Amino acid sequence: MARRLEPARRLRGRVRAPGDKSISHRMAMLAAIADGETLIESYSASADCLATLECLRRLGVAAQATAEGLLIQGVGRSGLRPSSGALDAANSGTTIRLLAGILAGQPFETVITGDASLRRRPMRRVIEPLRRMGATISAAEDDLAPLVIRGGRLRGITHESALASAQVKSCLLLAGLFAAGETVVIEPIPTRDHTERLLSAFGVPVVVSGATRRVSGDYRLQSPGRLRAPGDFSAAAFLLAAGLMVEDAAVCLEGVGLNPTRAGLLTALRDAGASLDIRNERLEGGEPIGDLFVSSTTARPQRQIRLEGPLTANAIDEIPVLSVLGAYFGGLHVTDASELRVKESDRLALIARNLRAMGVELEARADGLTIPGRQRFRGATIETAGDHRIAMAFAIGALVAEGPTFIDDPACVGVSFPGFFTVLEQLQRSGSAEEKLLAQS
Ligand code: S3P
Repeated sequence: MARRLEPARRLRGRVRAPGDKSISHRMAMLAAIADGETLIESYSASADCLATLECLRRLGVAAQATAEGLLIQGVGRSGLRPSSGALDAANSGTTIRLLAGILAGQPFETVITGDASLRRRPMRRVIEPLRRMGATISAAEDDLAPLVIRGGRLRGITHESALASAQVKSCLLLAGLFAAGETVVIEPIPTRDHTERLLSAFGVPVVVSGATRRVSGDYRLQSPGRLRAPGDFSAAAFLLAAGLMVEDAAVCLEGVGLNPTRAGLLTALRDAGASLDIRNERLEGGEPIGDLFVSSTTARPQRQIRLEGPLTANAIDEIPVLSVLGAYFGGLHVTDASELRVKESDRLALIARNLRAMGVELEARADGLTIPGRQRFRGATIETAGDHRIAMAFAIGALVAEGPTFIDDPACVGVSFPGFFTVLEQLQRSGSAEEKLLAQS
């Protein structure tokens, strides 16, 4: 059933962002193939990360929720067992592409598939290099899930990727753990480096120089014992945008991951004139984190938000919400974003369609968007096509629209941020106690 959202006048409170989805996937996968047990605190409760866990369980890995976090019993590098049925990655590109790397190194056959959206997304980007490493893989139309992967002892390759994709890079680094010799991945632009950071936490050195990554297959992963997923920057980005758009705001987002390969949105907003207040910057488990504050006195991004090249890659998941923000403030110009056409939906098409439905003018191109600034929004029915980031981006737009907005499939936010609507409502209801807390911080 559609969810009705009304415009908001105030937004106040503190929020601990949910555990990072991108990092949680990697923590679970590495913990599974490591020696020893790993306790993961703040493991993401997103449907995507639950899909990863379910796939690992089917491969013989015990994973159990405890009061302190998720406890994974590592089976070691040769301990995975054949699954009795197909693995289901559900809506999650990270699950299928990263697991494909691990499955390519297993001496048995696995079928891995996903929901209708995932079965439309391109897989040749991982199939082709994994075949070169020695895996036997078949796929629908040679590009689409279900993938049938028969792996074994692989050989290291050098893969020079035309795509800036952390999923492709991570897939190959994981396959490289099961390969003879060295596996080298060269990206056009360095993408999010969570896999590299985590591999070193598990005792596997990754040699980094510029956009080149090298890993050798000689290592056994050793569990670091305990890990904690930082707050998800991509989830926090929606609330940050809400804090900027609703005039009477005082919002603190605590413990948010600020990895520079992921936080392009902050650079883009600052370049457009926003003054962002980040406090308590610290390192947690090899990842930088901090608290983000936004209030009525925060300078808004009054100039055009511009994304191209590396900045587009480092803000790729935030482009839906930046489009909404840009249309409301100083405008937005994005290029080099053709990858958005093959995400959970064709995001460029859905951003354009839904902004237009809200009365916003824009120009859409094959690889980007140009949206004039200072436009007013009117409430509309938002077509999400089941895409969580489209649903959340337009839920933020709804806060400044004239009249109610209806999100056609609100449940899809559970793919990355199950409590999203509850948090948004709490921020609108929070009273003076919250204001005092924020004043003291
Ligand atoms: C992700 C990488 C990005 C991103 C996705 C998560 C990851 O995808 O859009 O949401 O966890 O590695 P690509 O690698 O396809 O760019």
